[in-house]
Order: sequence, then C-alpha cells, then structure tokens
Amino acid sequence: MGKGYYISKHLATAAMVLAAIALVTIIALSVVYNREKSKNAAKFSKATTLPVFPTPKTSNEPWDKYRLPDTLSPQYYNVTLWPRLVKNANGMYIFTGISGVMFTCEKKTDLILIHSNKLNLTVFKGHHAKLTGLSGVTAPAIKTTWFQSETQYLVIQLEGKLKPGKDYWLYTEFTGELADDLEGFYRSEYMENGEKKIIAITQMQATYARKAFPCFDEPGMKAVFHITLIHDRGTTALSNSQEIKNVIIDGMPITRTIFGPTKRMSTYLIAFVVSDFTYIDAKDKKGVRIWARKKAIEDRQGDYALNITQPILEFFEKYYNTSYPLSKSDQIALPDFNSGAMENWGLVAYRETALLYDPRTSANGNKQRIVTVVSHELAHMWFGNLVTVKWWNDLWLNEGFASYVEYLGADYAEPTWNMKDQTILYDLQSAFAVDSLTSSHPLSRKEEEVNTPSEISEMFNTISYSKGAAVLKMLSEFLTEPVFAKGLSVSFTVLSLLCLFSRLNQAVDQTPGIKLPYSVHEIMNRWILQMGFPVVTIDTRTGNVSQKHFLLEPEAVVDRKSEFKYVVKHHNCDITFENPSYKSNGSKMNGCWPTSMCRDTSEAQILDDAFNLARASIINITLALRTTKYLLREREYIPWEAALRNLNYFFQLFDRSEVYGAMQAYLKKQVKPLFEYFGTISSNWTTVPSGHTDQFTQIIALSLACSTGVEGCRELTRSWFKKWMQNPPNNAIHPNLRSTVYCNAIAAGGAEEWNFGWQMFQKATVAAEAVKLRSALACTKVPWLLNRYLEYTMNPEKIRKQDATSTIGYIASNIIGQPLAWDFVRANWDYFFKLYGTGSFIFSGLIRDVTYRFCTPFELSQVHDL
Ligand code: BES
Ligand code: ZN
Repeated sequence: MGKGYYISKHLATAAMVLAAIALVTIIALSVVYNREKSKNAAKFSKATTLPVFPTPKTSNEPWDKYRLPDTLSPQYYNVTLWPRLVKNANGMYIFTGISGVMFTCEKKTDLILIHSNKLNLTVFKGHHAKLTGLSGVTAPAIKTTWFQSETQYLVIQLEGKLKPGKDYWLYTEFTGELADDLEGFYRSEYMENGEKKIIAITQMQATYARKAFPCFDEPGMKAVFHITLIHDRGTTALSNSQEIKNVIIDGMPITRTIFGPTKRMSTYLIAFVVSDFTYIDAKDKKGVRIWARKKAIEDRQGDYALNITQPILEFFEKYYNTSYPLSKSDQIALPDFNSGAMENWGLVAYRETALLYDPRTSANGNKQRIVTVVSHELAHMWFGNLVTVKWWNDLWLNEGFASYVEYLGADYAEPTWNMKDQTILYDLQSAFAVDSLTSSHPLSRKEEEVNTPSEISEMFNTISYSKGAAVLKMLSEFLTEPVFAKGLSVSFTVLSLLCLFSRLNQAVDQTPGIKLPYSVHEIMNRWILQMGFPVVTIDTRTGNVSQKHFLLEPEAVVDRKSEFKYVVKHHNCDITFENPSYKSNGSKMNGCWPTSMCRDTSEAQILDDAFNLARASIINITLALRTTKYLLREREYIPWEAALRNLNYFFQLFDRSEVYGAMQAYLKKQVKPLFEYFGTISSNWTTVPSGHTDQFTQIIALSLACSTGVEGCRELTRSWFKKWMQNPPNNAIHPNLRSTVYCNAIAAGGAEEWNFGWQMFQKATVAAEAVKLRSALACTKVPWLLNRYLEYTMNPEKIRKQDATSTIGYIASNIIGQPLAWDFVRANWDYFFKLYGTGSFIFSGLIRDVTYRFCTPFELSQVHDL
C-alpha cells in the first residue's frame, strides 16, 4: 500500500510536470519568439533603404493583420532567381532575383500588401516596386512603400484606386542571403572526394516562400508560376515543372534554365534546387527520378526508392480515381533538411535518411521509414497539392489524411510487412498520449485562431498528424474503405471539412447496404470539435455505462469546456458506441474488443490502455504491470513495442529511485526467453529472421536483454564491436543490430570506443549509418565525453544543423547525459531558439526530450524558471 502511494504521488507530479512543461514552453516560446523577432527586424531594417515601422499592438491597419485582405488575387508569377554558390566580396552567400506577378483586383483598393521577408528590394524612383496596368488599364502611381516587419509585408500605398475586374503587373528586383538556415531559399554543404560542395535548395512550408521572392504567401492564394533559374554551367537546376529550355549565356560561365508553367498551386509548394546531383530514372511514363549526391547514386542508394515510387504513385491514382496531375515526379535527397520530407509538387524533398537505402549498411527500419515517407508525400500530390486547405487552421485534414493513407500506399508497395497494423503504435497510441493532457486542443481550429507564423508552425503537431490519422481511419472503417475513397473526390480545389463530409454523405447515400444512424458531420464533429477522448466505465452488475473525459492527471482543470457526449449504447452482451470510438485498429472496433481483431494488436491495446488508466489513477498500477506478465511467452513485435514504450516511461521516471533494481530484475526475467528464442532461430545471432516485424522484435530482444543485463548479451555486443575496431573497413555487424550494438559497446567503453565511433561517423557516406553512430555516441557514461559531444551540436562542421537538436535529445535519454543536456540547453537557449524556434516541430521536440524524465516538484520549479 505504501509503495502504491509512493508511485502514484510520483505519477501525479509527473503529470503536473508535463502540463507545466507544455504551458511554460508556450509562454517561453512566445516571449523569446517576440524578442528574437524584434532582433531580426532590426537586422532586416539595415538591409533596406527605407525605414521599417514597428507594429502598434492595437492597430487596425490592414498591414498589421497577418491575413491578406481579399482585394487582390494573384494569377501568375514570372520569377527568375540566381543563387551564387561562392561567397561575395562581403563573405556572404547571396541570391538575386526578379519577379513579376499578375493579379486581378477583386475589390476597389488603393493598397497592395504582398509578403516579403529578409529580402533587400531594389528601389525604383523611391519605391520598392513598379506597378503597371494590363490590357490598356492605367495603374495609379505609387504613393509610398515600406516594410512591415512584424507581418512580413511589403506595403504599397497608391495615389489612386485599383479597379475591380482589372489586371495589374507588380514588378520587383531583389537580393537575399543564401544562408544555411534551412528556410526559404537556402544553402546546404557537403563533402565529396575531399572537396566542399555547395548547393542551393528550398523549404517554403509554411511561411518561407516570402523569403525567396515577394508573393501572396497564403495557401489559398493559388497561382501559376513561370520559373527560371540562372546557374553555373555544369550544375543542374530543378523546379516543380519540367525544364523547357536551357539557354547558354554567351561570354559567361552560366546558363539559364526555363521551366514550363506550373499548375495553379500554392506558394508553400514551390521548390528550386541548383546542384551537381545526379539521378536514376525508371524510364516510365510517370517521369519518376531519384536525385542525390553523385556518390550516393553511384553506390545505388536510390534504387530502393525508385522501385517503390512508381507503384505507390499508381496506387494513389487508383485510390483517388484521378491520374497523377504532373508530367514528372522528382524525389530528391538533401544533406541539410529541417523536416523529414516535403511534398513540393513535382519535386519532393527528403532528408537523406528518408530516401536513401544501402542494403549493405541500412537496417530494415530504415527501409520502412523510406516507404512510409515516400507514400506520405506522394499522397499529398493529390490531397494537399491538387486540393488545398484555404488556411492553416485546417492543416490537420491535410497532414492527418496523408498520415493515414501513407499506410495504405506503403502496404501496397510492401504487401508482406503488415504495415496497416502499425498505425496502432505510431498514430493511435501516440495520439492518446498527448490528447489525454489538458494542454491538448481540438483537431479543428477556427480560422481566426491561427494567424502568426509561430501559430501556424504550432499546427504541425501530434494532434494534427496522429489524432488526425486515427480519426480519419475510424471514419474510413465505419464507412468502409471503398465508400470513403469514393467520397474523397479530388475534383474540387479547396480542401474543406464541409465539402469533404458532404461528399462522404453522398457516397453513403449512393451505397446500398450502408446506413448511418447520424450524418457524417454529426458523427465526426464530436471527434473534431472537442479535444480529448472518453474513458467509458461499464458497471457489470447494473449494466450502467458512463463516460468522462480521459485525463492523465485526474484533478486537472480543463479550460476548454466541451459537451463530451459520445453516444454509448448496449448491443447484446457487448457495449458499442453509436459513434464509434477512434480506438479502432483495423476491424469494426466499437469501444470493446471484437473477436475479429487480430491478437497482437489487441494485446498491445489492452496493455497501453492499462498503463494509461494506471497513470490516470483509475486502476492500480499493479493491474497494469500484470498485463506485462504474459510477455514471457510473447514473440510478436506490436505488443512488445507497446509494452516497451509504457515500461520505458516508468523506467525513465524511476531509474534514479530505489524501485529501479526491482523493475530491472523483473524485465530481465520477461525478456530472457525472447533473447534465447532469437539466439536459437538466428544460429546464435549470425542471421536475422525473414519476417519484417520479426526483425524488429529481434532488435528489441537484443537491446532489452543487454540493458537489463541478461547473461551473455553484453559480451556478444562488446565482442562484435571490438572486432570492428580491429578491422574498421570490415564491419560485420548486421545493419539491423548496429544501433543496439554500437550503443552498448560505447556505453560499456571509454574514450577509445567513443573516438572510434566518432571517426566512423565522420567517414560515413550513408546517412542511415551516420544516424546510428550519432545516436550511439550519446550512450557513453563518461560525463566529459558527453559534454564535449553537447558542444559539438553548436558547431555545424561537426554536427549538421538539421541534426543538432536530435543529438541533444539522444544525450538526454541517457541517464548521465540528461542533467548535462538540460543545463546545456538552458545555457544556450537563445542560440537554439533563434535557429530552431519557428521551424516545424524541431524546437518542441527538443524541450520534450530534455525534460522527459522530470517528475519531482523541484524539476517542475526548474521548468517554471525557464
Ligand atoms: N508537409 C510536411 C513537412 C513539414 C512539416 C513542413 C512541418 C513544414 C513544417 C510533410 O508532408 C511531412 O509531414 N513530413 C513528415 C514525414 C511524414 C512521413 C510524417 C516529416 O517531415 O517528418
Ligand atoms: Zn505531410
């Protein structure tokens, strides 16, 4: 009893810490964000010739609003950009550009607002732009122009009004920095044959197109783009559409690549690349090409991606019942890339680890990552690119949808992998984990709630991706897959919930045999408009069924009041929700365990539920732990992975406390049979099993056996690593097992092992191998090595900017590294915030990683002090 109290007190504090971290993170983010923003603004004002006006907080001026007015709509752009891949006289990398946009005036106005950020615009007769009327219309003269730094606008005030229905041409010339900041038009560097190579690449989502050229940078402001890139002869230029002309410029070592007009598209999907990369293609009608560094392509690292891209495109053509809309589909692997991948229309960009696969050194997990990422991004080619959200508040529909159908595309490309079953781990359970906190939010946000670039960036979160995927999967399952796909119809261009649901309703009405108790809207609104999910209690004596909002912290106060009435009804001996629960896993899952559910996923779900219920103090922790007793006999991946995650949570909380020893001993006992089983079937670890997920289970067996001290495990991993150290060119460790082996050997060793690992990391030419080493280097128990490694994350020559925060995260997951990483991040907060604060999910991931173990009131107070 005493122990039970001890545990639940810790858990309660941990839940409070989690909630506090979320809150403090948001507050700290906004404070530092504003501070950094004003610093940037100061920097920017130096680059321009006219003054920058600060934004008064209460202003009602249109240039102080983050949303563009509805007075103008862009039709097409002519953009020419010239990135310089050598430093200029001031030691800077820059690009120059000229851009014209034809827009139609929709409503009478004497004001033009167009996004422009960190661009130095040429001044013509005192103004930053030229305006002309088209088809005989005379444009009013420009009165004044300035930059509104807060809202990132070039503001153009006119002497007279623009006329509704008339077209105008706005022309600008500009210079920008080709920085290594992973945003907008930026540069990436890598070494090849001892030579430093520089390439120019882009990342526009969500609000960085305005950093490459002035544009109406909202997803709803679609236009046609005519793009031209000027670049050195011998380099290749790529963009969204096919090259139509390549003009050599006489007397200069440069060439001009002109691309055909794009489809009508959003600015965030624009892409440019200038590089000396090479490609492989399948010579097929879809125009699939895989681009990467020359060495990577020569080493055939693009072959796997090439094999799967074409089938996945064909799968989605059938799924959406619409042909792939473009004439080419380039996939490019970039050495520096902020997110995992980006769905630029026709030129999809990836981190190297998300596209390149080397069978000699990459693990099957790396292969799975590639097939799911490719599938996710290709799903966007229709859902997201052809049909696009009007504004970022609906982002969940875009990302949630791609996150759901990525499993369908991956399953088509790799039918023996049972990919669809993995949703339970990677979406459902991850969604539950954050949706059970008071800091969660409803999937759907009102348009007015999302305005600033940082509010937009916040939308790229687990709720949008994973809860979005889980809810859409549930919808697809209760409608049935064919009805869901039929209702999707991508024949409209604005992606809106209302449209989608009406079409799904129509599809239901047209399908005999399907009858819903409510409309799709009514069913789905409960899941979309309110946050969280219900915990349902069934009194087996009375048959009473009750429900309440499931919260990990039972006493927490929820600010967002919601009705929370998920309809529950009795059905024979089972209990079913009338509105199905999104705890669905591949069968008609209605809040209880149907017999058709496959065994391993249901075990995994029982286990995850039990741990969550225990964390919420609804059931006793011993009951949850009891669900792991059977693991002695378990050989399947999904339940083991679910168990591991939940047990890891407890380990991370208690690995500095007295219960640790007992937990360790228990887990050791549970995993021993699994370790022995794989030892036997793999002829004493010399082979790997043939089944895809069995290979994952084998990795779990080895890593858990070594970390809990199962006899023979550490000796094995140490001897494999030693052999490699004795003969570095010949690494005989199986790629699947490398992460575990490297980590264990470096943890057990000292500076010699660490330095060897570091050398191998620097020499690695396969990105997946480099990640394995980079994460293993964080396993050392030697504090000075960890501190030195932390310092490396601030030196892009040692650790790429794209990898800095995840490296700190690896160090924080090491019990010795955690306090070092926490101190390091606090000491260098401004540096990290400036670099990663507003882009994608990187910064929130960093905070989560360095505070993950926190569970005491003292640690809570440290978070408050941030
Ligand atoms: N559109 C996103 C990339 C992105 C994320 C851009 C955040 C800007 C901010 C892309 O479709 C995506 O979701 N990529 C994922 C991989 C995917 C398999 C979940 C990523 O980058 O991790
Ligand atoms: Zn996506």
